[in-house]
Amino acid sequence: MIVIPQVLDAEAVRSVRARLDAADWIDGNATSGHQSARAKHNRQLAEDSAEAKALGGIVLDALAASPLFVAAALPLKVYPPLFNAYGVGDGFGDHVDSAVRIRAGSDFRVRSDLSATLFLSDAADYDGGELVAEGQAPIKLSAGDMVLYPASSVHHVTPVTRGTRVASFFWVQSMVRDASARAMLFDLDRSIQDLSAAADPGAPALVRLTGLYHNLLRRWAEL
Ligand code: NI
Repeated sequence: MIVIPQVLDAEAVRSVRARLDAADWIDGNATSGHQSARAKHNRQLAEDSAEAKALGGIVLDALAASPLFVAAALPLKVYPPLFNAYGVGDGFGDHVDSAVRIRAGSDFRVRSDLSATLFLSDAADYDGGELVAEGQAPIKLSAGDMVLYPASSVHHVTPVTRGTRVASFFWVQSMVRDASARAMLFDLDRSIQDLSAAADPGAPALVRLTGLYHNLLRRWAEL
């Protein structure tokens, strides 16, 4: 699991939340597969609503401006971000996200390599509502922070017992399908960034390492 801090800053979170709090919400099972529908209890913005599209655009712009997201996910396609809310008693039992997400009324489809949750409520504003992926510590982040995790993992959201947990969620098809290859590229990328900050970025060894990064990406990327 990779945490991307402050994808949205405090001002952007306030603005998005003000619009979400005034929006119309529908039953969250509108986007569920059969397995999920049994486990899922929450509300979400209708996928084709003008507000969901506008707010999703704000999230997409923020993702494009996040070097950490781009380095970690190596995104090829991002499913238009959706928005959900878990009130008291809501939760989402164990499930695996659908492998292919097809946008209703279009031919836009995404293979879900990575799932993303962008938290839009402060952790202090609700109890429960933790994202738990198999074998991982529960995740509950500050508003504006995002977590990326393998869409193939069994995961759940614990029931909310106080307040409301509002979030944006979506899926990413990566240029690099294999999670271990993607993790190695991310590690190499971060190491190169650290070395570049500490040493002469034009040093021959750094130039060779950067070349290795790109040549591995060239080998593994599917476009
Ligand atoms: Ni899920």
